[in-house]
Order: sequence, then C-alpha cells, then structure tokens
Amino acid sequence: MTKVKKIAVLTSGGDAPGMNAAIRAVVRTAHYFGIEVAGIRFGYKGLMEGDLLPLGMRSVSGIIQRGGTMLHTARSSEFATPEGIEKAAEVARENGIEGLVVIGGDGSFRGAMALSEKGLPTIGVPGTIDNDIVCTDYSIGFDTACNIAVEAIDRLRDTSESHNRCSVVEVMGHRAGYLALEIGVASGALAVLVPERSCDLMEEIYVKIRTHQKTQNIVVVSEGCRTPSAEVARLIEENTGMSTRLTVLGHIQRGGAPSSLDRVNATRLGYRAVDLLRKGIGNRVVGIQSDKLVDYDIQEALDMQKSIEEELYTISRIVSM
Ligand code: F6P
Repeated sequence: MTKVKKIAVLTSGGDAPGMNAAIRAVVRTAHYFGIEVAGIRFGYKGLMEGDLLPLGMRSVSGIIQRGGTMLHTARSSEFATPEGIEKAAEVARENGIEGLVVIGGDGSFRGAMALSEKGLPTIGVPGTIDNDIVCTDYSIGFDTACNIAVEAIDRLRDTSESHNRCSVVEVMGHRAGYLALEIGVASGALAVLVPERSCDLMEEIYVKIRTHQKTQNIVVVSEGCRTPSAEVARLIEENTGMSTRLTVLGHIQRGGAPSSLDRVNATRLGYRAVDLLRKGIGNRVVGIQSDKLVDYDIQEALDMQKSIEEELYTISRIVSM
C-alpha cells in the first residue's frame, strides 16, 4: 500500500450544524496518520478555482461547537459540466491532493463519484439537515435542525394558546418529509403534512379541530408539500373558523450550535472517511446504520430507496388529537 501524503476536505450544498465537527475530525485523523490536509473553501467552486488553505492540527481548534462551516459552501453549476469536473481534478493533481472528503448531500456525492472516476479517490460524508440520504439512517445537522424547530414550536404554542389560534409551521426538508415528521412528533403537532403522503390529511385536520375544540393547535407542513403552507393555513381558518397564523422557519433551522449527537456522529463519519482514504479506498459514501459506521459504493448508495418511516407516520396520526 503506497502511503497517502496529502488529502483535501470541502463542504458542499446547504450548510448543516455539525459540518465543523466533521472537518475537525478529518483534519485531526489525517494528522494522526501523518497525512497533510488542505481545506477547500466554497465547495467544488473553490476546488475549480484553487481556493485552498493548509489545515494544521491546531487550525480546527475551537470549532466543534460552531454551526455553519468554517470552509464555507456553495452550489456550483459549472462544476456539474465535464469541463468543470476536469478542471477540478486538474487543480487537485497540481496541488498534490491524493484523496478528497466531500461533506454534503446527494448532489455533492454525484460530484464525488465523477472525481473518483477521474482518478481522485473521493469519499462522501452525509451532511444535510434534510436527512434524505438513502444509505444512512442519519445525516449531519438533522438532529440540531429538529431541536431548533421543536424549540421554536414550543414558543409558538404559548402565543397560540393565548389567542386561541392554530399555528401552521413550515419546516425545511427539500422534497422529503423526514424533518417534518420528526419535528411534528417531537412537538406534539395536531398533524404533519409530508410530500410523501400528499396532503390527504386536510379533512382529518378540520374534523379534529372542530371536534376537540382545543385552545391551540400546531400543524407542521414540509416545504416540499404540493399544497403550499400559506394555502394550508388559509384552508384551516376557512373550514374551522379558528384564527390561524403561518410561521416559516426557513434558514433558522440551519444555524446555531450543533447538538451533542451531531457533534459525535460527525466526528465518527469524518474519522471513517480518512480511514478509507489512507487505505487507498475511494468512491464510497460513509454512513451510520443502526448506530454502526458503514460505507457504500457511491453509485450503489445513490440507487438505494428510502422513504419516511411508515410506523412513525402512523403513530403521529394516532397520538395527535
Ligand atoms: O438541503 C438543505 C436545505 O436547507 C433544504 O431543506 C432547503 O430546501 C434548501 O437547503 C434551501 O437551500 P438554500 O440555502 O440554497 O436556500
């Protein structure tokens, strides 16, 4: 096995709390094994432009508790072209980079696969609050985003109660309902609308509100639902007579200090990514399944199917009233 001398790390796509903990783990693990590390700023865009900085052992001190990503991030359309990929691979070669860790979501992993095909061993680390990466139970940032939303909803409940209102809360998740379902259950919502189930719950919501006559109600809507959250709020007020307000949590869910779970799991994933690269293994996505570290071929990982947890969805409907 030839010794890997230098690797690089970048974050790509939407930022997620815990990305810094993963960067720290990558840097510290690499140094432990005597491997030099370059940080690439602004994701694949930065790689194409050669926006690199050396990351010494101490350069990642004091970042484990910080949200966002110290390397910044970007979504690059230029990188998605054959020319862009060639350019990025060339910059890596020129800088002596022999392996790359990409922390991001599905889209970022397609780029990682393309770079592996160009001869740069690349490992994908799941980092997105959406938790929509198929080969892993967990992605970095999901836990923190859930906690932030639940805390916000606890506050909304107070004011909704005072005014006898229904609060419709739109949460992120792109086209997937994992975040919404988790948040809905944890906040004791009356209903959770997720894209995977269309919005077939509206009648049920009206009946529950009319029947139970509660002093406040919380309805969580995933941003990916076909019926926009504003329309959901309007329909609820129209069909139940209950004063209704809409809150869109938006990017608030992506900020703030990562939870303990996000810090620990990000650290484990970052470690495993470097461990694979130092063994000369690339073109893999690392993940956590049943609390164990796993890794898959990137194409195999992208081809897997995952949907919201059926049982949790059923439970959420049974326990909410
Ligand atoms: O993928 C993470 C995510 O926060 C999604 O939930 C959301 O749809 C999207 O990113 C928002 O992207 P942007 O930060 O580019 O507005």
